[in-house]
Amino acid sequence: TDRYAVIGNPIAHSKSPLIHGLFAQTTGQDLTYTALEGPLDGFAEAVRSFIAAGGRGMNVTLPFKLQAFEIATDPMESARLAGAVNALKFEGDRIWAQNFDGLGLVNDIQRNLGVSLTGKRVLICGAGGATRGAILPIAQQKPALIAIANRSADKAQALKTDFAAHTPLQTGGYADLAGERFDVVLNATSTGLSQAELPLPPSVFTPDALAYELVYGKGLTPFLKQARAAGVAQCVDGVGMLVEQAAEAFAWWRGVRPDTRPVIEHLTVPLV
Ligand code: ATR
Repeated sequence: TDRYAVIGNPIAHSKSPLIHGLFAQTTGQDLTYTALEGPLDGFAEAVRSFIAAGGRGMNVTLPFKLQAFEIATDPMESARLAGAVNALKFEGDRIWAQNFDGLGLVNDIQRNLGVSLTGKRVLICGAGGATRGAILPIAQQKPALIAIANRSADKAQALKTDFAAHTPLQTGGYADLAGERFDVVLNATSTGLSQAELPLPPSVFTPDALAYELVYGKGLTPFLKQARAAGVAQCVDGVGMLVEQAAEAFAWWRGVRPDTRPVIEHLTVPLV
């Protein structure tokens, strides 16, 4: 039986063992998938002992996504551009690394929610790791515009420079959004966790916009409340992104693509 795991700290609330367990069941793959609490000062050692014990692959979550990039021998483009890793594959001495968060997000938006990004005006709030991972997969869908709004303007500006060879970005602070409208508004800040308010003008949403909170399982976050108050019909959290990034990792490891819909339905909690 092939062994897989998710490593993080804390890890108790991870849904990944449940998701991958359902994928293994429905595709008939013989594997185990467990949750590992990595020691804060011993991430690399924990990965090495998992490999020594026959581990074939791992998902990586907070706070180890940057360290996972450092131990990779073969980081793929998704990981290099994000500067962070959420999936590892072990083959002999090689550690392959990917970041499927952005692709999972795009697949959820387009396939599950039925919203094409092509030709759309897309706003991403935040300029941290979550935004970094999302930019290239979104750019590949050829939106009309990708705008980044961030509290500290210098971090948004740094993204513009880092991605200049790949895609143009319009960057600024929240005040610069006055008078601008977007078809798709993504919250990639950590305010979904901290429950802080974003200074978003209600006018940023087009009448039929999609408001997408990347965080999962926090109910109606301040961002989603703002979107609802602005009259946005389609307001969702990141449950679909979570399941879709897991499906990408599963397909990468096993060569079999699981059906995500029943798993998303299983994990969806109403936003109230
Ligand atoms: P992650 O890797 O999850 O993206 P991060 O790299 O720490 O986390 O980035 C957090 C993002 O949330 C940043 O864009 C941060 O804005 P700053 O760069 O200005 O710090 C944003 N953020 C966090 N709290 C915020 C708040 N109260 N208001 C607005 N933005 C906030």
